[in-house]
Amino acid sequence: MRILAIETTCDETAAAVFTDEPRVLSSIIASQSDLHARFGGVVPEIASRAHLSQVLPVVDEALREAELTLEDLTAVAVAYTPGLIGAILVGLSAAKTLAMVLGLPLIGVNHLEGHIYACQLHHDEDVFPCIGLVVSGGHTNLFYCQGPTDFQLIGSTIDDAAGEAFDKVASILGLGYPGGPVIEKVARAGNPKAYRFPRTFLREDRLDFSFSGLKTAVRYLVQGQNAQDAHRIPGEQEAADVAASFQQAVIDVLIGKSRQALSKHGVKTLCVGGGVAANGALRSALEQMAAEEKITLVVPPLRWCTDNAAMGAVAAERLRRGESDPLDLDAGGGLVR
Ligand code: KG4
Ligand code: ZN
Repeated sequence: MRILAIETTCDETAAAVFTDEPRVLSSIIASQSDLHARFGGVVPEIASRAHLSQVLPVVDEALREAELTLEDLTAVAVAYTPGLIGAILVGLSAAKTLAMVLGLPLIGVNHLEGHIYACQLHHDEDVFPCIGLVVSGGHTNLFYCQGPTDFQLIGSTIDDAAGEAFDKVASILGLGYPGGPVIEKVARAGNPKAYRFPRTFLREDRLDFSFSGLKTAVRYLVQGQNAQDAHRIPGEQEAADVAASFQQAVIDVLIGKSRQALSKHGVKTLCVGGGVAANGALRSALEQMAAEEKITLVVPPLRWCTDNAAMGAVAAERLRRGESDPLDLDAGGGLVR
């Protein structure tokens, strides 16, 4: 089998080709990050338009790298939910058209399940059953994953996603976009105990997250509550201490909730995906927790943590079972936050 997958749920236009083992033959990603940088976040309309101009060249490139042509394909997979509705529609329309013209099965992939499945691509043993933690700019979710196509959502953020909090705090500190990498860098010179920021829900049983109170706490600390201070930019050391203390608060919550989920479901493997998993301090904290809890931790290399189409390889599992989706498959926009 040769499966083409397309991914356009947010601001990366991506295509990949893989076999049903699954083995990834090619993976092409065109990032739009530069287009959104000056707005401090992803602008949906700009994302949709950029996907429109990128999607076919990216598919072409993925086929070229895999040394295949459209005629060699067995199926077309596409991330159809969750994400920016206009952005998804571009990839979904391209995938449906290819499936219809080539007479191939269409397989819709849940983007969040794909993030967790990316861990399987880089782990020799079966990762299932596992707890899946997806931490990105749009999502912060915990899943109980009993098998490659059997995912149960057990926790979500009730407001901001973890990556979104990094981006907003970077903006408060005048550090630019995307915030995650720059906060991580600045935090290295800071004291994570300088400020005690809130760790929402950490002491509660529920597996949900909330980062908007944390962001507001940073804003009040840096800018006070008076309008005249609204544009105050902190000095270098203060910014480093705020960044380090903020980052530590996010890490404490992500680690605490993952630990609770593992113990609640009696699972011994934790799979992590999403752009925030690039954070070195988070990775170290995850490794330490895994050693303490004697569990297997799977965090793929960075290029498989952020959005890509290879994670659509979860489609191979469905294809093997003879499953596919109708050509009128709806884009499931919205955000499973
Ligand atoms: O998964 P992703 O590439 O795109 C989606 O949001 O779907 O994640 C992007 C998010 C951004 O919010 C970015 O600030 C965050 O991941 N991020 C990081 C780091 N690198 C990227 N957050 C913390 N530390 C990092 N090193
Ligand atoms: Zn994603």
